[in-house]
Amino acid sequence: MDKDIKYTSVKYDNYLQLQQLLTAQTMRSEQIGTPAHDEMLFIIVHQVYELWFKEIIHDLKSIVKMFNEDTIDERNIGVAVSRLKRVTEIQKLLIEQIRVMETMTPLDFLDFRNYLFPASGFQSFQFRVIEVILGLPAEQRITYNKAPYSIVFDEAEKKELEDLEAHGNMLKAVEQWLERTPFLEFKGFNFIEKYKQAVTNMIENEKRAIMENTILSDHNKEMRLKMMGDSSTYFQNIFDESKHNELVKSGKLKFSYKATKAALLINLYRDEPILHLPFQLLQKLMDVDEYMTTWRYRHAQMVLRMLGKKVGTGGSSGHAYLNETARSHHIYTDLHNISTLMIPRSELPDLPKEVHRELGFYYTDHSH
Ligand code: HEM
Repeated sequence: MDKDIKYTSVKYDNYLQLQQLLTAQTMRSEQIGTPAHDEMLFIIVHQVYELWFKEIIHDLKSIVKMFNEDTIDERNIGVAVSRLKRVTEIQKLLIEQIRVMETMTPLDFLDFRNYLFPASGFQSFQFRVIEVILGLPAEQRITYNKAPYSIVFDEAEKKELEDLEAHGNMLKAVEQWLERTPFLEFKGFNFIEKYKQAVTNMIENEKRAIMENTILSDHNKEMRLKMMGDSSTYFQNIFDESKHNELVKSGKLKFSYKATKAALLINLYRDEPILHLPFQLLQKLMDVDEYMTTWRYRHAQMVLRMLGKKVGTGGSSGHAYLNETARSHHIYTDLHNISTLMIPRSELPDLPKEVHRELGFYYTDHSH
């Protein structure tokens, strides 16, 4: 392109295409009924959401692309962490923005709500794209009017969602990256065996402390031992691959056994320089998931305030449906499971010298 044209032809308003952007707020109340002042706010708040969704998708897709490469350039882990951080900053705005929406009262909303029927946020394609990229599986979704969530989309959109489910899934991409983590078995060091010994010692010590306690009653001791037994079943699942696989099959866990072991290693030994960025990445994924859930609760709360128990314009039960999605649409629950498996630093098995040295420098094998 000619340089001169590049520098002279762009102006603030045409660069940002403000002509299109600022003429895209058509109030239906004005078009087909009595103008309702707050409809402008309703449109703009939704449009701003959709713009931010666009940025989130842009960032998430770039991360999945990096992770889908056969070998990941380690510098990209840092880029992924900073882009996920950006996503969480946007999510905070999205949660905060609900307060602006709430300056509209239920009565003001009723001035134009009838004109919206049957449109609904349920039909936000970009929102579904975000959920699908983050890795929310179709089987986990609570059904809406007994139909798949994608029923409201046209064929091209459905196809795009299917393609993303198959190739654009961040959870899967991260799982595969975790599976490639070295050090799980390294020069005679078997991480899970060492970890198992440490957990067994820890549990034995805790049991002894309860039994030898002189203040607790026998009944109290029994109860505490029982509670310990319940929580130790979580440890059994990581010691036994077939148990883990059963939980994956039943949908209770998502990460493969190998990926789970890697996530555990990264969390336990995160103080090692080379594991620090991978640890940050896992933390950021939990953050993104957590802010999604917070938004869901916050939106459900706003809906309760705005509509009470009325059904939604999209035909759902409204607040009850939304609350249910907040409760059950967590995605990175496997990382919460890792928190259950944490043991105190003081109990951590020492790493053999060679492993320790490697972790201090290079994450990948530089021999090729
Ligand atoms: C007065 C404000 C709002 C009300 C009363 C409201 C109400 C509802 C209701 C009742 C639903 C359930 C589906 C249905 O039956 O229609 C829903 C879903 C949804 N709304 Fe809103 N909403 C409001 C504002 C917003 C805003 C500002 C956004 C931002 C984009 C939004 C995004 C969504 C999304 C993404 C869903 C689908 C959630 C899911 O299926 O998990 N809503 N909304």
